[in-house]
Amino acid sequence: MDRGQAGQEAYEQAWLDYRRIEDETLRARYAAVCGRLVVIGDGAELATARLELRRAIGGLLGMAPVDGSAESVEAGARAGEGGMGGPAIVVGLADAAEIEVLDTGMLGEEGYAILSGADGSVYLLGGDAKGALYAAFGFIRLLCTGRDLSDLRIVERPAYPLRMIDHWDNADGSVERGYAGGSLFFEAGRLGERAARIRDYARLSASIGINAVAINNVNVHAEETRLLSPERLEDVARVADVFREYGIALYLSVNFASPMALGGLATADPLDPAVAAWWRETTAEVCRRIPGFGGFVVKADSEHRPGPFTYGRDHADGANMLADALAPFGGTVVWRCFVYDCKQDWRDRRTDRARAAYDHFMPLDGAFRDNVVLQIKHGPMDFQVREPVSPLLLGLRRTQIALELQITQEYTGQQRHLCYLLPMWKEVLAFDGGDGWTVADAVGRRAVGEGDEERGDAEVARRNRRGGVAAVSNVGTDANWTGHLLAQANWYGYGRLAWNPSLSAEAIGREWIRMALGPDPVVEETVIRMLMDSYAIYESYTAPLGVGWMVNPHHHYGPNVDGYEYSPWGTYHYADRDGIGVDRTVATGTGYAGQYPAAAAALYESPDTCPDELLLFFHHVPYGMRLKSGKSVIQHIYDTRFEGVDRAAGLLAAWDGIADRLPVRVHASVRERLAHQAEHAREWRDQLNTYFYRKSGIPDACGRLIY
Ligand code: GCU
Repeated sequence: MDRGQAGQEAYEQAWLDYRRIEDETLRARYAAVCGRLVVIGDGAELATARLELRRAIGGLLGMAPVDGSAESVEAGARAGEGGMGGPAIVVGLADAAEIEVLDTGMLGEEGYAILSGADGSVYLLGGDAKGALYAAFGFIRLLCTGRDLSDLRIVERPAYPLRMIDHWDNADGSVERGYAGGSLFFEAGRLGERAARIRDYARLSASIGINAVAINNVNVHAEETRLLSPERLEDVARVADVFREYGIALYLSVNFASPMALGGLATADPLDPAVAAWWRETTAEVCRRIPGFGGFVVKADSEHRPGPFTYGRDHADGANMLADALAPFGGTVVWRCFVYDCKQDWRDRRTDRARAAYDHFMPLDGAFRDNVVLQIKHGPMDFQVREPVSPLLLGLRRTQIALELQITQEYTGQQRHLCYLLPMWKEVLAFDGGDGWTVADAVGRRAVGEGDEERGDAEVARRNRRGGVAAVSNVGTDANWTGHLLAQANWYGYGRLAWNPSLSAEAIGREWIRMALGPDPVVEETVIRMLMDSYAIYESYTAPLGVGWMVNPHHHYGPNVDGYEYSPWGTYHYADRDGIGVDRTVATGTGYAGQYPAAAAALYESPDTCPDELLLFFHHVPYGMRLKSGKSVIQHIYDTRFEGVDRAAGLLAAWDGIADRLPVRVHASVRERLAHQAEHAREWRDQLNTYFYRKSGIPDACGRLIY
């Protein structure tokens, strides 16, 4: 793999490293199309498209396309032949007068088409300039994945207007829950010094359709609070300038108490006119310095962060006040729903953290401004390996929402274990409350059929579609960006899925493999199986049947069954000698199951119908209870942990099977992690099996060794 340079720092170009295509026939076929490049129109995104196409064609085909002119294309299109100099790659806006090959209205904002012309030219047309950039990256993806270029008629529109990555980066250069080195943006208080690398980050992100990036941690400490101050805005603006070339809007996470911390006010009460005025002025200055500023991400009243509750106000009061400050500039408030009591008494069985987001935000449905998006974690707890889907995602009908995912593998192996997250995310997006209206529909506020108008809130959707998907970044300064090389597939896959949630996890994985590891079919078949199996494998040796947690406190790595059992965080499994699980039923438990639409609520309410994989999330059951699989709960725990260890070892064996097909360095770096995973899976198995054997006294039916 080629390595780029950024100052002292060497790093890889991930899936955009444009290694020369080895297959000569294919190269010749592509070369026949790529001899000329015509970019029609000006502006940052089109200039980027040109640059990127030149770079890709140079790398993949070893040639430099000549720059053609718009006139020659026009003449060629009229004559039905290549004009002067043969076929060309033609990039531009679909409604540019020169290119009349498409009904231009159909692409819309950010949409694009890739079309073959009669003369063999390929047209990369955007509904707007950003769309044209995405078309360029879409075309490059065709080249990198070895696709046939004849008769192209690809039309793509993003499913959601917001496709965001949230960085939990701190001013000191550390990354909260980061497992791939330090921050790309910050270093010891300085911001934006890694200019080349930030550009490559933007380029990689834009290539998968990301259009919004929050650069700092949702936990905004003193130093990051100051990013809003005039003396820091210059640095922020420098990063935003790079992002803009790639069609990415920069967002800042802000401290709700900034008017006090920065403005010297005595309060941050959102209804205090002086507070609102401070935010208006501060926001106006930010937007003046940063054209196209995306907006603010806010974690309020959560895990010790300040918020409107301090002043007896609700979250609509807080979000709307910021929204009003951003509205004149077209900015958005991304307001997080991760709000719960983190000082719970473990003895208190009535308070249920899982209920919190719904309880706080459902009563506010419809109370938010048009430019507020509520960001909702995919599960009701906190990015566990297995959780049900948050009922709030389906509950809110009159509010723009964003589904929040976690690309960084906080609870899914911290990029030391392989865990391809797309299968999990696909399940989340496909979830419906029993009536066919899925999370994917709800996020897009998409009315899908008769009677759905109100649910899809078509009016809101037409007026103001801002919602979408946001996810916590998994990248850092490591040379391969993600620590575990194969974790790159999660970053890549997140963007592709946010663009088109109906793509399959497997199709996306295969794309990434071809682009990042090369076109070897044996490598592709091996790695795609590893990726596709990895989530199930990880789940099988960690916390069982949806119960969650069971990790070491603070860093959240490795097994510790009671690690969070007597903590204030609301994270319990209640295992005793007879059984395990949390009763969240309406009948006898916390009532959480009742937050779902009727059909799903009924399904979860009874242990007889509750899906096995979520049984312990919703019910406290005896160890001897039979699952739908026919096994008892305890035997399931033992069996899956033994299988999990075998399958983790299988991942290592599979990887070793393709050792001679990969660069030594690439193979070795992944091998080291897979070997650790195989070993660490044993630790998970033995700690969990031993714990449950000692609690229950029930031996393994197969008589295997339990300590
Ligand atoms: C998790 C994570 C924290 C993070 C929080 C959040 O609890 O462990 O580090 O701050 O989520 O999403 O705000």
